[in-house]
Amino acid sequence: MSSSNPSRPSMGGRLLSTFLNRPINDHGSGWSSLWDSGESDLWDRGKASPALVDIVEQETQLLNPFTVEGHRKKAFVPGCGRGYDVVMLALHGFDAYGLEISGTAVKEAESYASKELKKPSEYHFGSKSNQARSPGSVTFLKGDFFSSNWNFKGDVDQYTKFDVAYDYTFLCALHPEQRKNWAASMARVLKPGGLLLCLEFPLYKDPKLPGPPWGLKGVHWNLLSEGGDGIITNDVGDDGKEAHSIRSDGNFCRVLYVRPERSYNAGKGTDMLSIYERKTD
Ligand SMILES: C[S@@+](CC[C@H](N)C(=O)[O-])C[C@H]1O[C@@H](n2cnc3c(N)ncnc32)[C@H](O)[C@@H]1O
Repeated sequence: MSSSNPSRPSMGGRLLSTFLNRPINDHGSGWSSLWDSGESDLWDRGKASPALVDIVEQETQLLNPFTVEGHRKKAFVPGCGRGYDVVMLALHGFDAYGLEISGTAVKEAESYASKELKKPSEYHFGSKSNQARSPGSVTFLKGDFFSSNWNFKGDVDQYTKFDVAYDYTFLCALHPEQRKNWAASMARVLKPGGLLLCLEFPLYKDPKLPGPPWGLKGVHWNLLSEGGDGIITNDVGDDGKEAHSIRSDGNFCRVLYVRPERSYNAGKGTDMLSIYERKTD
């Protein structure tokens, strides 16, 4: 999002002012109105995440798009925006699903996907050998991640469990009071053993400053591993853990935590890529 770009302060201001005095349960309409007024450039990065491309291509066992029985795994991106990462995951073999609260975003994502699936841009791939893979399906749906009444076409409804979920700038777009709900919803939609991939951004921003984007240093660890509320008041180390943290009450275990070699300019050198595994209930 644009708070990382000091040359465009008025854009960051526009994002902040949209949500400043808006009741939290009305934030969804704030996002929809930004989409409807053509202001998605406030956060849109214009391509699939290089960090996600690299991890999917490197972690071929962990992120194998096929089950041992040979079925395609289902990957889910809530708050998917224009759907860059949904399309990228499909191009790497997953059946990929994107959920958006904005109907305009869904239309734009569908039009983007239909072009990219016919003639994929090079940014979807780190290495040419991955371009030969047969793509999975792409499906977008308008719906609120926090409600329980969204239904993708076919056999995927709110009770369907996904194998993989991905978050980039969805959590940081939410008011801090919605974070616990985000973690509970991620736990609800993933299978036991399912993987939640997070490109953590922004980690450089003071968590006490207003958003979106809201500073997230230590937030993923607290929500997912410790089972906290994601409201961080203590200093946290560079690995995201609070000093002397011993709690592990969350629904997830962190299985990977790396600084990606490639990321978007906005988070280069500070973004972290984490993979959390959904525990068995
Ligand atoms: C900062 S944007 C990030 C979009 C996308 N992940 C990307 O990287 O371009 C946050 C997105 O979340 C969507 N969103 C906000 N609240 C939502 C909700 N409750 N359910 C589904 N989508 C939501 C917004 O419409 C917006 O497109």
